[in-house]
Amino acid sequence: MYIYYALGFLVLLLVVGIALYLITARSYESSDTVANSYDEWTQDGILEFYWGEHIHLGHYGSPPQRKDFLQAKADFVHEMVKWGGLDKLPPKTTVLDVGCGIGGSSRILAKEYEFEVMGVTISPKQVQRATELTPEGVTAKFQVDDALALSFPDNSFDVVWSIEAGPHMPDKAKYASEMMRVLKPGGILVVADWNQRDDRALPLNFWEKPLMRQLLDQWSHPAFSSIEGFSELIAETGLVAGEVVTADWTQETLPSWLDSIWQGIVRPQGLIEFGFSGFIKSLREVPTMLLMRIGFSTGLCRFGMFRALKSDSVAQSRETARSQVVKA
Ligand SMILES: C[S@@+](CC[C@H](N)C(=O)[O-])C[C@H]1O[C@@H](n2cnc3c(N)ncnc32)[C@H](O)[C@@H]1O
Repeated sequence: MYIYYALGFLVLLLVVGIALYLITARSYESSDTVANSYDEWTQDGILEFYWGEHIHLGHYGSPPQRKDFLQAKADFVHEMVKWGGLDKLPPKTTVLDVGCGIGGSSRILAKEYEFEVMGVTISPKQVQRATELTPEGVTAKFQVDDALALSFPDNSFDVVWSIEAGPHMPDKAKYASEMMRVLKPGGILVVADWNQRDDRALPLNFWEKPLMRQLLDQWSHPAFSSIEGFSELIAETGLVAGEVVTADWTQETLPSWLDSIWQGIVRPQGLIEFGFSGFIKSLREVPTMLLMRIGFSTGLCRFGMFRALKSDSVAQSRETARSQVVKA
């Protein structure tokens, strides 16, 4: 008997969640929309309570294995360091973390790899929280900056790093060119991002189009790039030595979506901490996370990794750009 009550209650919650979801979309309008959303999420602390210091998916191994949600997120950073070849770089390597959130990756890069990290985000509250979370002596600093108009001079950093910021960028070419501009010659760009399937190869079908619309509108995303499209944009900056290397980590990161929802169930303390309004706010995210899970498991979305080396000289970059044009 009780099982029916419990099931009925769960269905009711889902219906309320979906209703809230449908009536309150948070479409992208400008970088202010993004800044305000993250300011709000940072101030109320709900996202940090459930997702910890990392506002990105976890890495569950290949093939994926069961693991703790927060551990998977920290593991993601170490996997990205390895994949980017950053584990071979010496202490004091300078890193720009573009779209740094509350600094989870920046702190790991500073503490465990002894890099000197500058994290930038469009959200002032994230800068404040990232700074609070960073103990004295950890070589990570944070400031507000727009990824599409970075305030740093050309050739400033040994490494430019960015996780899951790209879907918020309305101009993906500018996002790529700004990151390559501030990278020193010989420096490494390493990016992890949500992408959609390359619709030049296979256009979105009748159910994928409205699904993608929801994924964009619910979390203030102007557009997703494709892995192929974004790697072309990096190459087209004309600043890349050799090829842009890509990988697809969809399978490695896929368990994150259901794990995110599961956190709400296994950590009911959140109810006490954030009260009824916090509960409704969290519930409202459940349909988007389910839709993300559907998008990533059906091939509509892909988790893309990108790595590029900045050419050492203008002559070399012109040569590379020329060969890329020839290839295209
Ligand atoms: C999904 S969160 C990822 C945060 C962080 N990389 C992490 O993994 O924890 C996206 C981040 O991109 C930042 N962002 C979005 N648009 C931006 C812009 N135009 N300039 C700088 N940061 C931006 C957001 O403020 C947020 O910190």
